[in-house]
Amino acid sequence: MRLNIANYDIDKERLPRHIAIIMDGNGRWAKRRNLPRIEGHRQGVRRTRQLVETCGKLGVDYLTIFAFSIENWVRPEKEVKFLMNLFKEVIKDQVPDLVKNNVRIRFIGRFDRIPDDVMKSMRWAEEMTRDRSGLTLLVAISYGGRSEIIDAVKKIIKKGIPPHRIDEKTFCEFLYAPDVPSPDLLIRTSGECRVSNFLTYQTVYTELWITKTLWPDFTPALLLKAISDYEKRERRFGGV
Ligand code: FPP
Repeated sequence: MRLNIANYDIDKERLPRHIAIIMDGNGRWAKRRNLPRIEGHRQGVRRTRQLVETCGKLGVDYLTIFAFSIENWVRPEKEVKFLMNLFKEVIKDQVPDLVKNNVRIRFIGRFDRIPDDVMKSMRWAEEMTRDRSGLTLLVAISYGGRSEIIDAVKKIIKKGIPPHRIDEKTFCEFLYAPDVPSPDLLIRTSGECRVSNFLTYQTVYTELWITKTLWPDFTPALLLKAISDYEKRERRFGGV
């Protein structure tokens, strides 16, 4: 089935099953307007809500967003505190809408430094949306692709799995979200052409789509453009 939305031609059969997004540029957006960085994050959250809604309506199965990288802990304490509080607020605010829109939320990352109250709200949101069967929203918080790989190796060693039993299939079972397929499309805003330690194991054959637009300006129309461009690409996975 083909859909024409906002002048973009979307083929439902070719829709990416899993979209991953590096939501970059909140700080720069604020700086350009002479606003404090936190205002960029607030506007970023509004865009994130729209994005979740649009992906749900389109019928995308998985959406992974990079909310806070394991490297982000080195940011000024004030900004880290603001972001942690913002996550808690957004989660509390959004759960009723997620439930209503049939969205399941899950969190991935290395959580040892996440404050208890934030962790509690994350677990609560997962519990409240556990049985939702539409879009699965994965929020990467305190996430690093290399840390995820190292954590998987540790779990494998702890379980005593012998080397001859380790292949790609077994290894994937120890990642943070073992049941989730690799992303088909990775979108990055604000023009940087790198993957920045995001889903390192999973993105080896992911199609990259980069826009100079800063995250707080990322509209649903831009998402449709990214999907429409993706659908025109030929994916060969190393074949001919
Ligand atoms: C990067 O901008 C963006 C972030 C650190 C993500 C902030 C989080 C959200 C927008 C939404 C979180 C949503 C949920 C559901 C928890 P930056 O500060 O790196 O920008 P800069 O590169 O311009 O400085």
